[in-house]
Amino acid sequence: MTKQTVNEAELEAVEQVSAEAAAAEESEAAGRKLDAQKAGARVGLTSDEIIINGGRPLKGRIEVRGAKNLATKAMVAALLGKTPSVLRNVPNISDVRVVAGLLALHGVLITRGEQAGEWRLDPSNVEVAHQADIDAHAGSSRIPILFCGPLLHRLGEAFIPDLGGCRIGDRPIDFHLDALRNFGAVIEKLPSGISLTAPNGLKGANIELPYPSVGATEQVLLTAVLAEGQTELRNAAIEPEIVDLICILQKMGAIISMEPNRVIFIEGVPELRGYDHRAIFDRNEAASWAAAALATKGDVFVGGVEQEEMMTFLNVFRKVGGDFDVHDDGIRFWHPGGALKPVTIETDVHPGFMTDWQQPLVVALTQAEGQSTIHETVYENRFGFTDALVKMGADIVVYKEGLHDEARRVKRREFEQAAVITGPTPLHGADIEVPDLRGGFSHLIAALTAEGQSKVTNLGIISRGYENFIEKLRLLGADFVYES
Ligand code: EPZ
Repeated sequence: MTKQTVNEAELEAVEQVSAEAAAAEESEAAGRKLDAQKAGARVGLTSDEIIINGGRPLKGRIEVRGAKNLATKAMVAALLGKTPSVLRNVPNISDVRVVAGLLALHGVLITRGEQAGEWRLDPSNVEVAHQADIDAHAGSSRIPILFCGPLLHRLGEAFIPDLGGCRIGDRPIDFHLDALRNFGAVIEKLPSGISLTAPNGLKGANIELPYPSVGATEQVLLTAVLAEGQTELRNAAIEPEIVDLICILQKMGAIISMEPNRVIFIEGVPELRGYDHRAIFDRNEAASWAAAALATKGDVFVGGVEQEEMMTFLNVFRKVGGDFDVHDDGIRFWHPGGALKPVTIETDVHPGFMTDWQQPLVVALTQAEGQSTIHETVYENRFGFTDALVKMGADIVVYKEGLHDEARRVKRREFEQAAVITGPTPLHGADIEVPDLRGGFSHLIAALTAEGQSKVTNLGIISRGYENFIEKLRLLGADFVYES
């Protein structure tokens, strides 16, 4: 590890998280310059905008790093250790930087290693942060809600700012708060966030989640490991990122067993140590690039990806007409020629088809011959991104109340929606604005698939979860202009 220190006063330095990221940024900048020159001159774009000349297949190899939805939680878990933790394979994305900023505010010393994406998190001097400083992070991410248990254990109090994250539905936190109350937390809602205390300490609890929520399961895990006594969690989420978090906690000294039927037992222990862990790969990013390969009739090797966590996606990819080859160091995804086929999908919790996979795939489905249906069962507002696709020539009808008469594998939730996509429809370039993280990536795919030029704005949202995506587009031969 190098000695470069990141503390509260040096938050900006967190932005430069790894030597590799810096190198990648440099080469990205060089690529951008080249692209701008190719286009003739600078065209006056802001760093939040890109012009894409579509209709060119994406071809080449890119690497996927650690999962956003694990790395950010693993960083919070470091708060629970008595000794420093080392997390490897951390992606250089803005959500990670937000969490690093919050940890630094609480006294966690973050240093970066010589290896790309290696972070050392030292929680020896965890302290109460000023509310005003925490408030500066309001609305930037949903991860702060996971600070509750660890801060209560470390400091006996916690203040959590208003949450952010993608606007894809109400995204309430009632499961989190109910679980925390079960452990003995006392919660006060303030105008700017929530304040928590644990006057009698935190004690193991019996908790049944109304729905297998990823975040609420993580909340229970991060709280139960140091709570006094046993916790039984029923109807838990069992996403691969949750299993990876459990592995991290076990390395730290926790006793956690995963039972059949979504039951998790946690035996509280008096203290935990730091961990050394390589974050599981980002299956959302992997599926996004696979969908981009399919939609653009391309051929993309996505390095760092493993089959097991992608099984459900791979089945759908094959049913739609894509092909793939599994290798030791990644998966190659390509469009084998011929017509793509329509599918019917219900998004679901793991091991179902992830809600985060539907947006990139929808673009490929606009090119399939016939009618595809996607039932969105996890969030109540996750088809907003299709407006832009319709503007580009897609035939997509969104049923805001879902399709009640359709045969369904799982019971309907009250707020479901469905999108019916009829293809194939040629897409044409347009000016589009990124609405949220996954919807934004699907806009990029649409622009890459469309004939003609598209201007995509509000790109910053995509860097919340996709590391160096501009550089990756360049590596895959996309034709674009981007000026930083
Ligand atoms: C995580 O969100 C991911 N985010 C999401 O990824 C992902 O889409 C989602 O899990 C499902 O896999 C992170 O890990 C940071 P949930 P999370 O709690 O934990 C309802 C991306 O693009 N619910 O499983 O917030 C909720 O409204 C993002 O990377 C309550 O009602 O998701 C939703 O309908 C977007 N009350 C459902 O549960 C609660 O207290 C699932 O949400 C909590 C959740």
